[in-house]
Amino acid sequence: MTTSHGAPGAAYAQAAEAAGRAPSIHNTQPWHWSVHPDRLELRTDPSRALPGTDPDGRMLTVSCGAALHHAEVALRAAGHDVDVRMLPDPADPGLLAVLTSAAGAPVTPEAMRLMQALRLRHTDRRPTVGVAVTAEQVDELREIAGQYGVHLHRLNPDQVTDLVVAVSRAEDAAAAEPAWQAETARWTGPDRPAGAGLPPEVIPDRRPETDVGERDFGTRGTLEVGGGHDKASTYVVLFGDDDDRAAWLRAGQALSAVWLHATAQGLAVLPFSQVVEIDGTRAMMRRILSQLGHAYIVLRLGAADPEHGLPGRTPRLAFDETTSVDAGD
Ligand SMILES: Cc1cc2nc3c(=O)[nH]c(=O)nc-3n(C[C@H](O)[C@H](O)[C@H](O)COP(=O)(O)O)c2cc1C
Repeated sequence: MTTSHGAPGAAYAQAAEAAGRAPSIHNTQPWHWSVHPDRLELRTDPSRALPGTDPDGRMLTVSCGAALHHAEVALRAAGHDVDVRMLPDPADPGLLAVLTSAAGAPVTPEAMRLMQALRLRHTDRRPTVGVAVTAEQVDELREIAGQYGVHLHRLNPDQVTDLVVAVSRAEDAAAAEPAWQAETARWTGPDRPAGAGLPPEVIPDRRPETDVGERDFGTRGTLEVGGGHDKASTYVVLFGDDDDRAAWLRAGQALSAVWLHATAQGLAVLPFSQVVEIDGTRAMMRRILSQLGHAYIVLRLGAADPEHGLPGRTPRLAFDETTSVDAGD
């Protein structure tokens, strides 16, 4: 980081650094931050897109939305009021958001709680153990998603059965597509880019015995799955009225907000996005939602096995690979 503490733009640089911890599809971290003295700009980084498996940039944009929310959390935890303009320039579609902030706001306990959760949050692919997520916890997460115009629906047992079918069809479709397999291998195999992708430590050492099948990364990892199941897990869908870039960006903000709150509640979270990535299963998800909206992502919520430590951490790109700092414009 080249900006010193207290200098104009220092808080923006710190926010960009904190945003680097955001979740992203295959840990591609497909964002680029430009730190200016008076603003922080978020762009997509097309070099880390997934043109084969995510041609519309749906998952890329959701991932960038999660990074955007992480940056907002960091600015609020540093005592800033934050203003976000999303997709501000139709002539510059790569510019996803511009953040401006003003110092001097009180740091609320909530802001500190979210900042702590940001440091702890991770994806947990190990099956959960027998503690049910409460209705109150789901209600709280629904309200949080709603702050971003995104709905959260808890799947009932029949809908979980439908999800089992949708996930299995999505996995079959992905397995039948060599380009899909090649792209997944690029981000999960030994030739993945340094500082990005999924290392073996976060990929299960065998197929977990869950009803809803986990994503097949085409490679066996070293993460011990243990004896859990997903019988007591809760599956929720984040969905909304629109299926365009603005909606995906908001979905990413909601994903981050829900995930950080779930982390603070002590819940383990695993996203399932293959059902949204494939056209046919995305339509199935819409039917599961009774045509009430477009699914953005499915999340499994549950209790991590207390016997387990944290799974290994996914790496992150170096600060200057995702961020440029403009000291004076
Ligand atoms: C939009 C999006 C889709 C994702 N889809 C999946 C998925 O289908 N299966 C999975 O195991 N992880 C999925 N993940 C989790 C990412 O792999 C994970 O965030 C990334 O590897 C970084 O690891 P971390 O979350 O532990 O920091 C998804 C994350 C995002 C943001």
